[in-house]
Order: sequence, then structure tokens, then C-alpha cells
Amino acid sequence: MLKIDHLTKRFGGLAAVNDVSTTIETGKINAIIGPNGAGKTTFFNLISCVHRPTSGTITFEGRDVTSLRTDEVARLGVARTFQTTALFDGATVLDNLIVGHRLRTHSGLFDVLRGSSRLREEERICREKARAALDFVGLSHIAQRLAGDITQEERKRVAFALALATDPKLLLLDEPAGGVNPEETLGLAELIRKMVRHGLTVCLIEHKMNMIMSLADKILVLSYGEKIAEGTPAEIRANPAVIDAYLGSDHAGV
Ligand SMILES: Nc1ncnc2c1ncn2[C@@H]1O[C@H](COP(=O)(O)OP(=O)(O)O)[C@@H](O)[C@H]1O
Ligand SMILES: [Mg+2]
Repeated sequence: MLKIDHLTKRFGGLAAVNDVSTTIETGKINAIIGPNGAGKTTFFNLISCVHRPTSGTITFEGRDVTSLRTDEVARLGVARTFQTTALFDGATVLDNLIVGHRLRTHSGLFDVLRGSSRLREEERICREKARAALDFVGLSHIAQRLAGDITQEERKRVAFALALATDPKLLLLDEPAGGVNPEETLGLAELIRKMVRHGLTVCLIEHKMNMIMSLADKILVLSYGEKIAEGTPAEIRANPAVIDAYLGSDHAGV
């Protein structure tokens, strides 16, 4: 589905992502792990066209998307969540989804200002998609609650819904279970499985090793911007370089 060739991103002298080549497999749960500062979020920023790479290419479904804008790649079917979910706390959950959908799929305010009938039709579709996405993530019952009043776990589900409302094929999740308790983490893992059952491809960054090891089909390990390993959970657990750089002997064989 997604092919990454020799991808590098430098910030000044620092190579945040350094010559990484990999693939994201269709219909699978692909995971990225690595210590803080390893370049995981930067990797997502490159795939979702928030940043332009210094060198290398990104191919999505056979098409070179390396130099597209975020809204262009979103319309092709790449959606993402962020480590922290920015919501309009004074607006309802549903309104957040409606606005979020527009921000993700439109490049500017131009057609909002035009106020055409096409726009009203678009708004109706937006609202329908927002409701369907809320239903999918199990949040229909809080559609009218203010975003500022919901729990961290509900915010994570809203982040999923925001991404789903754009009808993605590939969903990039940046620490989807960050800051939620173990029981809620299981619920979010189940939701990720449900998305894959419905035909989505998922790539997630996560620190929670139990979650990753039980969820991922394939794991990519980054350290100091470089790919140090790639494989199944069993292969990654047994890889000496990964244990050294990230897992530590405490986790070995767990
Ligand atoms: N916009 C940026 N400008 C400068 N440096 C950045 C920027 N984004 C990330 N970095 C640096 O790149 C490295 C990788 O960061 P990041 O991708 O956020 O790591 P991770 O998500 O794995 O914790 C870090 O050293 C970070 O400080
Ligand atoms: Mg990060």
C-alpha cells in the first residue's frame, strides 16, 4: 500500500529520519516503535505530508506522493491522529468532527466563503460522515457533550473518528493509547482491530509493548532516525539490537 524509499529528514544538522526504507502492508496492523526522539512522529509527518523529506520518496498505491500537500494526501486516503488531540473544548464533540473533517479535506477557506449550494450539500455529507464515525468508535452517546468535558480515552476515540470521517484507506495513529489506563487500552486495541476488519490499513506508533506485541502484524524499530530492525513481534522480541536499543533486558522474551 505504502512504499518508503531511502527517506531522510534533516532539521539543521540532525537527521530525525535517516535513510529509512520500508513498506506498510495492506490490511495489516503495522507498528513503529523506538525510544523517545527516534523519529517516529517525524516519520508520520513525512507520510502525511506535514513535512517534505530532505531526500527519498513515498509511494502510496503506486503514486508518488512525496511532494503533495496534507489535504491532497488526505483526499487520496491517508489519515492520521496526533500524540495530543487538539479539540475545540467549547464546542460539542459532533461539531468538532464536522469542523475537523473540513480542515482535513480542504485547502482553504475559499469555498466556505462562496456559500454555494454545493457547499450546503457538502455540509450535509460532512454531518452524516461525522455521525457515522462517532457511531463506529462508540461515542454516539456523547455527540452533544462539550469536548472539554470528555475523558482522555474519549478524546482518543474522537481522534480516531476525526481520522475516519475522511474515509481513509490508511490510518496513521500516533500513540493512540497514550495516557489511558490498561483497561481502556484494551478497548482501544479492540477498536483498532475493528477498523482493520472493516478494510482499513493501520500504522501505529506506541510505547505500550503488551499492546504492540499482541496487536501488530509487523513492527518497524527506529533508533536515532534509523531503521534498526523490522519483523514480526516474535522476531522483534528476540532481536539483540532491539533489546539493546529499546526493549532492555527486562522485556526480553516477555
Ligand atoms: N519540527 C522540528 N524541528 C526541529 N527538530 C525536530 C522537529 N520535529 C522533530 N524534531 C527532532 O527530531 C527528532 C525526532 O523527533 P520525533 O520524530 O518527534 O521523535 P519520536 O516521535 O520518535 O519521539 C528529535 O530529536 C526532535 O527534537
Ligand atoms: Mg512522537
